[in-house]
Amino acid sequence: MGLLAELLNLLKVKSMPGYKPYNSTLPAMESLPPMKVLFATSEARPLVKTGGLADVSGALPGALRDSGIDCRLLLPAYPGVLDSLHKPRECLRLDHTPAFGNVRLLQADMPDSTTPVYVIDAPGYYAREGGPYQDIDGYDYPDNALRFGLLSWLAAHLAATETPLGWRPDILHCNDWQTGLAPAWLRFMGGRARSLMTIHNLAYQGIFPASTVAQLALPAEHFHMEGMEYYGNLSFLKAGLFYADRINTVSPSYADEIQHEPLGMGLQGLLTMRRDISSGIVNGIDTVFWNPGADPHLPHTYSSDDLAGKNICKRALQEDLNLARDARTPLFGLVSRLTYQKGIDLVLAIADWLVARGGQLVLLGSGEATLERAVHDLAARHPGKVAAVIGYDEGLAHRIEAGADCFLMPSRFEPCGLNQMYSQRYGTPPMVHGTGGLKDTVIDATPQALAQGQATGFVFDGETPMALQATVERMLALFADTEAWRRLQIAGMRRDFSWESSARQYVELYERMIRG
Ligand code: ADP
Ligand code: GLC
Repeated sequence: MGLLAELLNLLKVKSMPGYKPYNSTLPAMESLPPMKVLFATSEARPLVKTGGLADVSGALPGALRDSGIDCRLLLPAYPGVLDSLHKPRECLRLDHTPAFGNVRLLQADMPDSTTPVYVIDAPGYYAREGGPYQDIDGYDYPDNALRFGLLSWLAAHLAATETPLGWRPDILHCNDWQTGLAPAWLRFMGGRARSLMTIHNLAYQGIFPASTVAQLALPAEHFHMEGMEYYGNLSFLKAGLFYADRINTVSPSYADEIQHEPLGMGLQGLLTMRRDISSGIVNGIDTVFWNPGADPHLPHTYSSDDLAGKNICKRALQEDLNLARDARTPLFGLVSRLTYQKGIDLVLAIADWLVARGGQLVLLGSGEATLERAVHDLAARHPGKVAAVIGYDEGLAHRIEAGADCFLMPSRFEPCGLNQMYSQRYGTPPMVHGTGGLKDTVIDATPQALAQGQATGFVFDGETPMALQATVERMLALFADTEAWRRLQIAGMRRDFSWESSARQYVELYERMIRG
């Protein structure tokens, strides 16, 4: 930021009543309290994770605190969460909540930072075997409306005028459908706090039968089209999008794409109507946890100044997964939830050809049973050339990012995507479908971008196996040119994907919200 812009920024912030300027180079003004943000989420790394939402919830609040914001997390006390927290203490006891019985709120610091976290202790809802949303057999819990209704209700209750806590947020920052009812409840309860609804993935909307309205003690008069109703059902996400003061999503391109079919997924009308209060902010990544220079999961670390360690990582990955050990064989990696969204079927469609063309493939993921089976069968057909690990393995995810030559991410849609940023940082140029955050974070290796030293990966249009195959050909040609390939790797490794710039954009957004 230029000096003038910085000064103007400070003046702007200073003129806001009652808030300390963030990132200020001026001495802190003790009389002005920092802006307070309650970040409500259903998962946060390292406490509980099923996908990118946890990575974001685990990192963004800390980055906001570094910017001078008093940001605190709120999430359910699943069993793993309680085990990971150091001495959580009771800070609130609520007897006779409208629909959820007795609830306790515990407070602690996040295990790897000083970010305060409030966890909702309601064992009847959260003390379950299985994941945060599904049982061990992969079925949604039948009472998810109540489980995440409670999360939403409590988030609103803590932000409302009548909050029972000595700390009331200025901003209630909600994430995905699990917190979608919070902006609605906040509106019904009343209060000064403003609500932000962040869409991480519009494919999941939290739709439940109309009878849920009474079950959650929601005001029935708001159950209509201009409110929480969606084709006769209750939609958590629609409620959030309807009642929030602002909406944002995790990349500018996805913010545009969801204004239309098909990616609007039925909500394009509402999103278009609320276009003026919507925006997109690309996620950052945790550059401490995802750092090839100091990654404890790797057999050898490396940096953009010396990539020798990356060859060791490749060799170790080939060895560990019983692939032929060959430094020059192009090794493709994929780490993903195995769902339609991620375009895994496109990879499956070209995999036999890829192997015939001399490539190796490593896949790590879990999800839909048919895709898991297909991935497993593919590996069985190509011993020594394709390796598949079905499951969730954080260490292996890091080793694939480091050991592969090229990272595959042909997602049909991708609100932001994190792996393509991790892979650039690990010197593993990603190959991505040009959609959403993938388009916004990968610079395609066009002749021009290569000549300018800007290219960091491969972007293809059209979600077809043919388009992917043609891009693999493009990649193989570049891979054969050692010098050009090295420049591509280094350009990606030197990009700044840290949270700093995204956090700054969130702070600006919060300020705009407060100013109304
Ligand atoms: P999404 O949230 O849609 O799944 P993202 O790219 O935003 O996609 O984030 C996915 C996160 O989950 C990344 O940190 C990725 O490494 C991780 N991940 C996904 N599947 C696995 C797996 N099977 N094992 C380990 N990590 C995984
Ligand atoms: C969702 C999206 C993914 C995004 C993540 C974090 O899971 O599918 O694209 O990166 O949320 O915002």
